Amino acid sequence: MEEEFPKEQMILSRALFVRFQNMVYEICGISLANTKRTMLSVRLLRRLRALNLSSFEDYLNLLESLNRSDDELQAFLNVVTTNKTDFYRENYHFEFLKNHVLPELQTSRKISVGVPLHIWSAGCSSGEEPYTIAMEVAEVLGAINGRFEILATDISTKVLHSAIQGIYSEQEIMPIPQPQKYKYLMHGAGEQKGFYRFVPEIRKHITFGRMNFVADDYGIPQRMHVIFCRNVLIYFDAETRHAILQKLCAQLTARGYLFLGHSESIKPNNFRLEKISPTIYRRLH
Ligand SMILES: C[S@@+](CC[C@H](N)C(=O)[O-])C[C@H]1O[C@@H](n2cnc3c(N)ncnc32)[C@H](O)[C@@H]1O
Repeated sequence: MEEEFPKEQMILSRALFVRFQNMVYEICGISLANTKRTMLSVRLLRRLRALNLSSFEDYLNLLESLNRSDDELQAFLNVVTTNKTDFYRENYHFEFLKNHVLPELQTSRKISVGVPLHIWSAGCSSGEEPYTIAMEVAEVLGAINGRFEILATDISTKVLHSAIQGIYSEQEIMPIPQPQKYKYLMHGAGEQKGFYRFVPEIRKHITFGRMNFVADDYGIPQRMHVIFCRNVLIYFDAETRHAILQKLCAQLTARGYLFLGHSESIKPNNFRLEKISPTIYRRLH
C-alpha cells in the first residue's frame, strides 16, 4: 500500500507540519504538539490516497482553497482527531453518578416525573461514554419509564456515525458488566454475528449531534444537570481550555456536576465551581 509514496515523502516536512498545525488550531482549537509530526503524516496519507494526490503540499493547498463547509474539511477533521474511548472508562465517575449525583437530584427534587434529567457527553467519540451513562442511569431510573435525556456531541462525523448505529464488537463490549449486557444489548445474527446493538429502550435516551468546542455559541438551549467532558481538554492550549470551560460551566444548572478526564484537573474558582474530587466539580450557584 505504501509503495506509491517514496519514503522521504511519507513524513511531513517541518515547514508543512507548521502549516497543518495552524490550520487544525484555527478550525477546531486542537494544539498538535511538535512530537505528532509522524502521527499526522500517517493519518494524512489516508486522505492523499483517497484523493489520489501525490504530495502533502497539494493536499494543504486544496484544504486552504475550500470553504469551511466543504466535505473534505470534515474528512480532514475526522483523521486529525484522536477518538480513543471505552465503555466504563474511569468507572468511578459512573459509580459517583449513580450513588451520589442521582440520589441528590432526586432528594432535592431537581429531577422528578415532570422534570427530566439532562446529561451531556461532550466529546462523546464513538458512543461508549453516552451508552455507559445511559445504562447506569437506567439502573436507577429505569430504561423504559425513566425520564432522562443524554445529549452526545463530537466534532468527528465518522465517530458520530458509529455512535448512532450503536453496534459494537464482542471485544468492544468486554468492559460492560454481565447484567447490563444481558439487559441492554441484543445479539446480532447472520452477517452481524459477533456484534451487539443497544436495545431501543437505551438508544431512545441519547441524541447525537456534531458540535465544535471552539464555536462561539454551542446553540444548546437546555441547561445540564451533569456534563461529562473527559479526555478532551488535553488537546487544547490553556487559553482555549479556559474559553471552553467557561462555556461548559454556563451550560450547567446551579449545583450541576462536571466530570473531567483523569489528567485534566482545573482551578475551580476560575469557573464558579467547587472541587469534589480531582476530576469531579460542582457548580456553586
Ligand atoms: C479521546 S476522545 C474522548 C472520548 C470520551 N470522552 C472518553 O473519555 O472516552 C476525544 C474526543 O474529542 C473530540 N474533539 C476534539 N476536538 C474537538 C472539538 N474542537 N470539538 C468537539 N469535539 C472535539 C474528538 O473528536 C474525540 O472524539
